[in-house]
Amino acid sequence: MARILITSAIPYINGIKHLGNLVGSQLPADLFARYMRARGHEVIFICATDEHGTPAELAAAKAGKPVEEYCAEMHEVQKDLAAGFRLSFDHFGRSSSQRNHRLTQHFAGRLAENGLIQEVSEKQVFSIDDNRFLPDRYITGTCPNCGNTSARGDQCEECTKQLDPTDLINPRSSISGSTNLEVRETKHLYLRQRALRDKLEAWIDSKTDWPILTTSIAKKWLNDGDGLQDRGITRDLYWGIPVKKGDQPWPGMEGKVFYVWFDAPIEYIAGTAEWADANGLDDAAWERWWRTDKGAEDVTYYQFMGKDNVPFHTLSFPATILGSGEPWKLVDYLKSFNYLNYDGGQFSTSQGRGVFMDQALSILPADYWRWWLLSHAPENSDSEFTWENFQASVNKDLADVLGNFVSRVTKFAKSKLGETVPAGGDFTPAETALIADLGARIRDYESLMAQMEVRKAAAELRAIWVIGNEYLQAAAPWSAVKTDPARAEAIVRLSLNLIRVYAILSRPFIPDAAATMMAAMGSEDWSWPEDVPAALRTLAPGDAYSVPENLFRKITDEERADWQQKFSGIRT
Ligand code: 2FM
Ligand code: ZN
Repeated sequence: MARILITSAIPYINGIKHLGNLVGSQLPADLFARYMRARGHEVIFICATDEHGTPAELAAAKAGKPVEEYCAEMHEVQKDLAAGFRLSFDHFGRSSSQRNHRLTQHFAGRLAENGLIQEVSEKQVFSIDDNRFLPDRYITGTCPNCGNTSARGDQCEECTKQLDPTDLINPRSSISGSTNLEVRETKHLYLRQRALRDKLEAWIDSKTDWPILTTSIAKKWLNDGDGLQDRGITRDLYWGIPVKKGDQPWPGMEGKVFYVWFDAPIEYIAGTAEWADANGLDDAAWERWWRTDKGAEDVTYYQFMGKDNVPFHTLSFPATILGSGEPWKLVDYLKSFNYLNYDGGQFSTSQGRGVFMDQALSILPADYWRWWLLSHAPENSDSEFTWENFQASVNKDLADVLGNFVSRVTKFAKSKLGETVPAGGDFTPAETALIADLGARIRDYESLMAQMEVRKAAAELRAIWVIGNEYLQAAAPWSAVKTDPARAEAIVRLSLNLIRVYAILSRPFIPDAAATMMAAMGSEDWSWPEDVPAALRTLAPGDAYSVPENLFRKITDEERADWQQKFSGIRT
């Protein structure tokens, strides 16, 4: 039994996530966590909401709520949606937790002690009426390039020119509208990533089994242009983790907070500590996942994320960990994803384009979405969601192949052979061939799942469902029952057992349907089919089973057209 630590990139707090976000991190992480648990490994799976930074402050202001209240509410919303999609986190934490405050301040203190923090003086716009420094994007004014009167201090969205706040004509605060602004000196902390460059490079070079997508992004940022840049890790914001050196004040840094990207990945660790707290466990319980001096030397750590998050996880966060000089666990395997596009364009949170998690669940149960998203995961390139493709996949894979098999077997068995597993007959060459084929395919499925080849694993699972259908079609118990009832009984007995095996194999992808199948087979034995012939004899003659509710319904053309129309616009 191995010990497996899994984290998914933690979603920003502002707003409900779309399906592109979901398939890029949380959903494949869940698939892997469920699979590893099914194989009997000790798994801990952690996620959280990423609550700090300018976007959180802006979203709270837009909602007319204090930022603490906004984040607390949105955390619950995201937690409920995660549960709706059956994401099996051991803990869904909050980057604003006290645990994360303490750990973030601890890491900053260690980095300072190790000479890896530099204090830098910068000039920044201060709003006298708001009594705060304004980040670039909090300043609005007229674009010197195109005359757009609502250009932001970092960029004009009309003509796309990159700007400095001082370029703006008639600058004003985006918070209050005040023009009472001045440029002031302010001090910030920089993490000296350059000093860690060689260590980072050696570490990345040692990861020869990582996906190309991951290593290519890491190397690009390590080597491009001037190479790795030192990075500002503090901000003049109200909402965030106050800058401290461990538990000591940091002179000159009063009123400042850490940059959201400094504290967010530390929340993976803090979230595990929150898990321990929530379960009444001591520090040793979470440290054995994270500290190689306290039991984590035999842990394998997997991270899941979209490609835009890779630089922070291959360079910045490892710089924090390595720079601390303490024995914290570094990631062992980093699975990254390309983007999922939506019907000819991009999913977009800011533009409200696409299907969002709450909307998806309002039209169909989680399994439909899980199956489509995972079987089309954007692994080797970007992939695209279209309603046609979604309809075709659900109707063919789920309804025609899996659902139909379960329904045909159970309905036929009940009507002709009664409501217990029939006893007659035994395996013939047809069954032996099926078992051999199934055995080979299950071993292949296992290896794809272990390698996190999500699409290929889905295709193999589907092939496993297909061979059951083909077997049933060829064996034709509906004919056999008329001439050789014992033969029909043997076919049905094997097929009922196949349903149970399908429940186990399919559970990481479609957990609700798997539970329905297992319950219908009257079993609670979820043990993995290591020995396929034995697994196919688990349900014994005389065991009760039942006909489950229709597992999957088909999506009609009218529904497809209706949803296509309904989700073609912009969410307000
Ligand atoms: O891209 C995002 O949604 C970020 N909130 C991910 C942060 S992952 C990590 F750093 F915690
Ligand atoms: Zn402009």
